[in-house]
Amino acid sequence: MKTAIFAHRGASGYAPENTMPAFQLAYELGAEGIETDVQLTKDGIPVLVHDEQVKRTTDGRGFIKNLTFEEVRRLDAGSWFSRKFTGTVIPSLEEFLEWAVDKPLYLNIELKNNKIDYSNLEAIVYDTVLRFGLQKHCTLSTFNEESVKKIKRIGNSISAALLTSRAEGNPVTKAAKLGADALHIKYRLLGSNVMMHADKQQMPVRVYTVNKKVHMLQCMKLKADGIFTDLPDKALEYKNTYYE
Ligand code: G3P
Ligand code: MG
Repeated sequence: MKTAIFAHRGASGYAPENTMPAFQLAYELGAEGIETDVQLTKDGIPVLVHDEQVKRTTDGRGFIKNLTFEEVRRLDAGSWFSRKFTGTVIPSLEEFLEWAVDKPLYLNIELKNNKIDYSNLEAIVYDTVLRFGLQKHCTLSTFNEESVKKIKRIGNSISAALLTSRAEGNPVTKAAKLGADALHIKYRLLGSNVMMHADKQQMPVRVYTVNKKVHMLQCMKLKADGIFTDLPDKALEYKNTYYE
């Protein structure tokens, strides 16, 4: 199995993260997968944005959970990155899935519920993915351990991944105990030990956020199942040479 290249928040090294231009560019650059983050607006619409607050990546202020979808859509999510992207909006999950549905892309939708408890986020995202028939092409991931269990309680149609950035205990065992189908791990926690445990459990391991050549090659050497990178073109270039 070759290491799959996921564009982290889209091709976020070259376009504003978690926007349609970033997703489209990732696709054009040949990324095999796309990672994105989802939160809920005040009126319960799933939208793709990384931070709980809109300040860093838009011209607005406040928490996503306190803004209606209409208010979120009025924000400019492109010009903070470059003037070229002025007028780019925060996409809804639905818009993203509609775009992805006829493309050979694997999707990783990260539920951003480790700081804010969006009570129905799991069910809303799950149902939306099912509605587009993308369940076989999608993993839902989260840092929130309870949320992993919640996803698996909803059903077995969509795989769930535990995200971890903490060095305590054995992350593979922890993920398995929660019923997760995969482990998404911070690069600095990756090692042959983790891969050995994962191999035994037959648990896929994907690594974030890998932007340096030497780290990308190390993930390939350790046979990680996937990496999340802001620079999918670079990762694909190194990948092609690595597997030559
Ligand atoms: O899903 C991998 C990675 O995106 C997790 O961290 O903060 O970039 O969403 P973050
Ligand atoms: Mg993420």
